[in-house]
Amino acid sequence: MNILGIETSCDETAAAVVRNGSDIRSSVVASQIETHRYYGGVVPELASRKHIEAIVPVIKQALCEADTELYMIDAIAVTQGPGLVGSLLVGFSAAKSIALALEKPWIGVDHLIGHINSVFLTPDNKPEFPLAALLVSGGHTALYYVSSHTDIALMGRTRDDAVGEAFDKVSKMLGLGYPGGPIISRLAEQGNPAYISFPKAYLDKNSFDFSFSGLKTAVKRFIHEQQSSLDETMKQHIAAGFQEAVTQVLTDKLVSAVKASGCKHAALVGGVAANPCLRAKLNHAAKQHRFCLYMPPLTLCGDNAAMIAAAGYHYFNNGPSSNIDADINADVYSRSTGIPVWS
Ligand code: KG4
Ligand code: ZN
Repeated sequence: MNILGIETSCDETAAAVVRNGSDIRSSVVASQIETHRYYGGVVPELASRKHIEAIVPVIKQALCEADTELYMIDAIAVTQGPGLVGSLLVGFSAAKSIALALEKPWIGVDHLIGHINSVFLTPDNKPEFPLAALLVSGGHTALYYVSSHTDIALMGRTRDDAVGEAFDKVSKMLGLGYPGGPIISRLAEQGNPAYISFPKAYLDKNSFDFSFSGLKTAVKRFIHEQQSSLDETMKQHIAAGFQEAVTQVLTDKLVSAVKASGCKHAALVGGVAANPCLRAKLNHAAKQHRFCLYMPPLTLCGDNAAMIAAAGYHYFNNGPSSNIDADINADVYSRSTGIPVWS
């Protein structure tokens, strides 16, 4: 079954063709970073306009690279939410229009379930269920108990900032660019992670929730106190100390989630999963605590449509297609997304 995936939840216009839920025939991502960089973050109105410009060429390119045509596609999977309303509407309307015009089945996919399915997009060595998944991106930070490709239960989530958002804000505080994650992680390689000890928030004992606002405030205060001594070396130490605090909490919480849930397999997904320090810490923890860890290749950590097509394949196998009245779900933890809480 060849599925055309479409993803426009935030600032990437993406389309992909995936066969049988795991064989990527094409994956095209048009990034809007250059548009938003000037503003230091995603401007929703600009994002929707850019999606409108890019959606048709990106779909055409994905079909061309897969050496196929629209009429040969078996079904369409599209991100239904969560995300920015205007951005979601562009991809969702495109998917509906193609489905209606060509009388193809189509399905709305939860973006977070899409990210989780990114670890199944490898030819071999696939995770087994149940799976403890840590999702870390610019908009989300959460731990899930994953019992199938389409069934997830929330174990914990951030009570304030998402991890990627915290990286982006620290980069801004240091007068560096956007997106901050890759900039901070490169800078951190030159710094000493033990030079400054920033606070690590574990919250209540046994809690799988996260909080990064205290850490962000501590970094802000530290930068303010530096004044003239905020040279390049100090920036490297700040980046390293911040990254150390964040990645240690994420690692410890995923290990606790694996132990509490009894899962033997775990996954790290989302844009921040590209962070080398986090990948290394989790690889080490997986060996030490004897669980199997899966991470997508770097090209599939950020938003892409291959993960949406992969998840869509399993939605199709388990239930009916979406109907023409279906609408987007912009909110992450709204009732409409229907993600139950793990117990
Ligand atoms: O998953 P994603 O592409 O979009 C969302 O769904 O949010 O994640 C983007 C986020 C940004 O905040 C970016 O700074 C962060 O992922 N990011 C990183 C790294 N690469 C991207 N954060 C830390 N280290 C990285 N190497
Ligand atoms: Zn995402």
